[in-house]
Amino acid sequence: MHMLGEWSTVRACTRLRQLLLFTWLGACFGSCAAATPPAGAAPPDPWWHDAVVYEIYPRSFQDSDGDGIGDLNGITQRLGYLESLGVDAIWIAPCYPSPQVDFGYDISNYEAIDPVYGTLADFDHLLAEAGRHHIRVILDMVLNHTSDQHPWFIEAASSRSSPRHDFYLWSDGRTDAAGHHLPPNNWVSLFGGSAWQYAPAVNQLYYHKFYRQQPDLNWRNPKVEQGMFAAMRFWLDRGVAGFRLDAITALLEDPQLRDEPLLGGTNAQGDPNLREIYTHNLPGDHEIIRRLRAMIDTYAGDRLLIGETYVARTAQLDPWYGGARHDELQLPMDTLVGLDKRLEAGRFRRLLSEAQTELHGSQPLLVFDNHDQVRSWDRYGDGAHNAGIARIVAALLLTSRNAALLYQGEEIGQTTATPTRVEDVRDPIGITGWPKEKGRDGERTPMQWDTSNAQAGFSANPHTWLPVTANYRAVNVQTESADPGSLLNWHRKLIALRRSSAALRDGRTVMLDRSNSHVLTYARVAPGGETLLVSLNMSGQPQTISLGLAATGVHGTRLETLLASPGPVAATAADAEVTLGPFAAWIAAVK
Ligand code: NOJ
Ligand code: MG
Repeated sequence: MHMLGEWSTVRACTRLRQLLLFTWLGACFGSCAAATPPAGAAPPDPWWHDAVVYEIYPRSFQDSDGDGIGDLNGITQRLGYLESLGVDAIWIAPCYPSPQVDFGYDISNYEAIDPVYGTLADFDHLLAEAGRHHIRVILDMVLNHTSDQHPWFIEAASSRSSPRHDFYLWSDGRTDAAGHHLPPNNWVSLFGGSAWQYAPAVNQLYYHKFYRQQPDLNWRNPKVEQGMFAAMRFWLDRGVAGFRLDAITALLEDPQLRDEPLLGGTNAQGDPNLREIYTHNLPGDHEIIRRLRAMIDTYAGDRLLIGETYVARTAQLDPWYGGARHDELQLPMDTLVGLDKRLEAGRFRRLLSEAQTELHGSQPLLVFDNHDQVRSWDRYGDGAHNAGIARIVAALLLTSRNAALLYQGEEIGQTTATPTRVEDVRDPIGITGWPKEKGRDGERTPMQWDTSNAQAGFSANPHTWLPVTANYRAVNVQTESADPGSLLNWHRKLIALRRSSAALRDGRTVMLDRSNSHVLTYARVAPGGETLLVSLNMSGQPQTISLGLAATGVHGTRLETLLASPGPVAATAADAEVTLGPFAAWIAAVK
């Protein structure tokens, strides 16, 4: 199993309830880079080390011009909110010119802003304002493929002798007796059907991992690398703090175009399940990533590369960091911990431990929600305790040793609103895959801000591109801000604690009560000795925990509650028995 295969599997299986696996520069750089460590001291951690990065899906965050679609000026309007939440950076899903077949992941110009989202001047304004709010801006960068409307592809598909023909992956394919053009091999698109599409002008087929409107670039051609690196420099020069690299494990393909081994059975799109050894995770990918890292390292300010890295096992993430050399991505996403539906203490204990021991000391990046997955509220929720479970998920994300990704709406408990009628579906895979695969609209509905109008304050236009979820009257930023016990304020408190605690930012992790299959308990111990205890009851029954602190080398005699959900936990002696209520989350200082 490997990334992209798992990517599709995760979607299909969450639907089936059987999931198997699956960026201120200028002023800011001055302050970030200011302190020179004393001679002999370890350099300070880079800004992203324990950062909270907030993913913005721009179509659905805030509409400022009343067209029913979010935009860059809308994001600028909401920077005060993001600062109050405490996030260090925002990652903005693609906002470049695009035919919007895959809602921006099909880019036709890498050095401009799509008019639906605004102008380059709006982007520069957003960047400058974000800096004033101490928020960095990270852009999404799609290196694997372009739009079929990109000038490179238009030229490439017009003539075999075009200088850009070799920017993409072409095959003569095969022809049957009736003269039909057949694909050269069994490679399938993640979005359904053969991954090969015939282009009449060149009488060849091109390869596309995703939609046929998203032709894969040929990264074996050095001019592709030059062109894409130039596009990244365009944004780095403007002052973005880094990139989230889309589908990064899919850059190269097997030059011999060999058939992928069959795994048996078919996926939600009706295609054979394949072991993608020739289209995913090819060794040559890493040479490209090392050159990319060297390029971004020529910029000041610890520019960051986040990777969309779906892998089957924690150890498979290590090469994406560059192993012991640490010279590739700073933060490939660890999608194993949080993109599953099993709320099992043992499973989290194992995966978090692996992330400490199998990554050459690199920093994990945990993620529970994004614009491609059923929201964690629904994946982990049991229908009765979703609010408590969401607090456990937030505590896990924000108190374990990692950088953290939050997806818009996750902090208020937005729910997944999957369309119930195929005629309402906007995401193409939900149309072709209906009813097995209903697409990703459910996790992309507009951000719920307030009760000022029926669009939850997202837009003045009653015709929003996706409908606003009906629960917005209760689930929204304004209402939850006023409620001290809300999920939103739970996130605020957790992020504030994370910022103020050396143990949470920097501390090592000591797993406690290791044989407890219901409660995940760990201590975070700062180099200076500050120690915090985190205990999360992942069951619907009260559970007693036995800490055994002394035996694990964690020092302290008293536990003083810092945060607890749902109810208070009284201060207690460190060796006393503590019973946590169903789905309780407890964070205490060890004194
Ligand atoms: C991953 C992105 O998150 C997803 O939304 C997109 O459809 C594919 N990559 C293709 O770019
Ligand atoms: Mg590719």
